[in-house]
Amino acid sequence: MNEPMLGQRRIAVFGAGYIGLVTGACFAKLGHDVVVRDIQKERVELLRSGGVPIHEDGLAPLIAENAGRLTFTLDAEEAVRNADVVYVCVDTPSTPSGDADLSRIWQVIETLRDARHLAAVVVKSTVPVGTGARVRAAMDRAGLRHVGYASNPEFTAEGHAVRDFMHPDRVVIGADDPETAKLVAQLHEGVDGPIAEMDVRSAEMVKLAANALLATKISFTNEIATICEATGADVEHVVRAVGLDHRLGPHFMRPGVGWGGSCFPKDSRALRALAGNAGYSFQLLTSVIEVNDLQPRRAIQRLKDELGGAFHNRTVALLGVAFKPGTDDVREAPSTIIASRLLSEGAAVRCWDPLVRRLDTAPWSSTTRCTTPLEAMTGADAAIIVTEWPELQDVAWDQAAALMARPLVFDGRNLLDPQRMASLGLTYMSVGRTTVRGSA
Ligand code: UGA
Repeated sequence: MNEPMLGQRRIAVFGAGYIGLVTGACFAKLGHDVVVRDIQKERVELLRSGGVPIHEDGLAPLIAENAGRLTFTLDAEEAVRNADVVYVCVDTPSTPSGDADLSRIWQVIETLRDARHLAAVVVKSTVPVGTGARVRAAMDRAGLRHVGYASNPEFTAEGHAVRDFMHPDRVVIGADDPETAKLVAQLHEGVDGPIAEMDVRSAEMVKLAANALLATKISFTNEIATICEATGADVEHVVRAVGLDHRLGPHFMRPGVGWGGSCFPKDSRALRALAGNAGYSFQLLTSVIEVNDLQPRRAIQRLKDELGGAFHNRTVALLGVAFKPGTDDVREAPSTIIASRLLSEGAAVRCWDPLVRRLDTAPWSSTTRCTTPLEAMTGADAAIIVTEWPELQDVAWDQAAALMARPLVFDGRNLLDPQRMASLGLTYMSVGRTTVRGSA
């Protein structure tokens, strides 16, 4: 490994998506000189002019405050030329087989051919176990045997990624030589959280295992919710009391129409494929994925039954499009499945979301975009809450009841209080709780 300079480092971050921008901005805040490289011209131009292409709490001010140590470029060579460390934060989408597509990682490694001055290459993108060994071999072949390699998976959740980076539960550093581990740990000086050091393969596995376990907790809760519906128990009481057991904890036990986003669906498929490629059938994870696939479909079926068995000529207000509140991200959002199912059953869909800007692809191009929840619900036969935006708690639900053709709400995130909704005259369905019917 090349001898790193003391103190401040020069870091080239590849990828200006959610992870790359948060990583770059946070490293700049920690005092490093950072250049973020992306292949999308408009994105880089926007960032250079002071704009931020994504919504992430606290990111825009962080980028502005650290502008002196944070630059953006399209040019890979320029990014690497003065860097000590390269951070790989490019996306690794699913291939048709469910494996992770690593092509963008290989493109980055290809640009490092002549970068003999580097101290280390660090992969933050989520990758299958064994990827680091393949990257290491490629670096060795390219004459970069002396450059260190590390895996530093990210555990930041969208919506509070900056907070998660600066105050993490842990920083996982996987390196097969102590100097590289030490260098990556030093980069994180000022970060408020423990460091867990290990070999590269284990670090790669920690990331996949953590996301799979979180997804398992949610799918387990959703199964319990279904049994609560069948037996008359209230899942909210059940989850609260189960979560008080310190061995289980209350987190990731919110029932709903399922998990989505750019991580859980892709990473659970990748871990299942990784196991399958090694000849092992990861049955538990397969069930976790299947439960999640069914969750939005079950919601639609229950709503359809309530509407007398058909959506034809019905109008449904879809409240919340983002895969969770606090983000404008629609990747693998349950809302997409719900909108698509409603349209294919013949319903008209009027949607509302406070943050999502562009909705010009299918199925959204066939829906009507509304600027307020009340506008979306006007004349609707039912409303379905898909994202638990806090704004929905403040809706004048009595007005909604009056404006709707039929005062029926399916709360896919258990955001609202059943008794209150019933007292305002609404029929209120939710997940894992008994349906209540308006008494006003
Ligand atoms: C997730 C992990 O939480 C991060 O630790 C990880 O770093 C990230 O993936 C990643 O791999 O990059 P994120 O996808 O941003 O973060 O969102 P989460 O807050 O984890 O939510 C994921 C989905 O689960 C959402 O659709 C959310 O609505 C759903 N969810 C979450 C539930 O249905 N119930 C819950 O109790 C919690």
